[in-house]
Amino acid sequence: MGAPSAKQVVVVTGAAGAIGTLVVSRLGQRWTIRATDIRSGPSIEHLDVVDVDRCRTIFEGADAVVHLAANPDPASDWSELEVPNVVGAHAVAAAARDCRVRRLVLASSLQVGMAYPHTRQRRTEDAPRPANLYGATKAWAEALGSWVAATSDTSVVALRIGFFSERPPAGQNGTPDNVTAWLSHGDCVRLMQAAVESKRDGFTVVNGISANRYRIAELGEIEREIGYAPVDDAWQAVGPGE
Ligand SMILES: NC(=O)c1ccc[n+]([C@@H]2O[C@H](COP(=O)([O-])OP(=O)(O)OC[C@H]3O[C@@H](n4cnc5c(N)ncnc54)[C@H](O)[C@@H]3O)[C@@H](O)[C@H]2O)c1
Repeated sequence: MGAPSAKQVVVVTGAAGAIGTLVVSRLGQRWTIRATDIRSGPSIEHLDVVDVDRCRTIFEGADAVVHLAANPDPASDWSELEVPNVVGAHAVAAAARDCRVRRLVLASSLQVGMAYPHTRQRRTEDAPRPANLYGATKAWAEALGSWVAATSDTSVVALRIGFFSERPPAGQNGTPDNVTAWLSHGDCVRLMQAAVESKRDGFTVVNGISANRYRIAELGEIEREIGYAPVDDAWQAVGPGE
């Protein structure tokens, strides 16, 4: 993928979090990033994503919004999810639509499909079948993405992110679901870059995992079309014979 002619202005919500910190540090040269979070800091502006007016103020003039702010814990209950994942996702989607940003990138999760049988490889065209309330909030985020793309010029890429970590999950985390869902740091950067810069219109759902040789989710035409070419493999990282 070639470098864009002018630097794109990209707002990142949840920029103080695990994925946000990586995105800001690795793509901050390529894009002009406005890093925002409810936990502000020297280089992070304060933005509580439930505040739709403040979202509009910050999104004005941006080329893209990468929406990462959420409670990412699949074990969360409604009291922990309602504000950030449900109300917040709506405010961000509505503000991005109102501000006519070219691209809204939503952090969804493979948890949207965890009620499918474990033997079935997940496909991006799968209808959501969450097995926990967190997954249901990510299905809501995807539904909002579809609404935005259907009613405005803002195109939306929803990323069904797997297990994000520097090394393949091991120990207590090393379950078959997690290892086959691994998303390495390098591939996460490639995924975010493709999601922001791809020319695709409308609403697109993409599986966000590394090129694991055994994988819980398909990596196919959609991922190629948006220009996502993962390189890491959980089994290669573990080493031969394991
Ligand atoms: N880490 C993973 O393996 C994984 C897997 C699938 C999906 N995701 C999704 O990716 C996104 C980022 O995940 P992460 O691992 O970086 O999570 P994280 O918890 O490290 O970061 C989330 C950030 O959002 C911020 N935040 C929470 N509520 C907010 C609010 N109301 N307004 C503004 N900011 C708020 C937090 O302060 C935090 O910095 C989340 O949407 C998560 O659901 C992550």
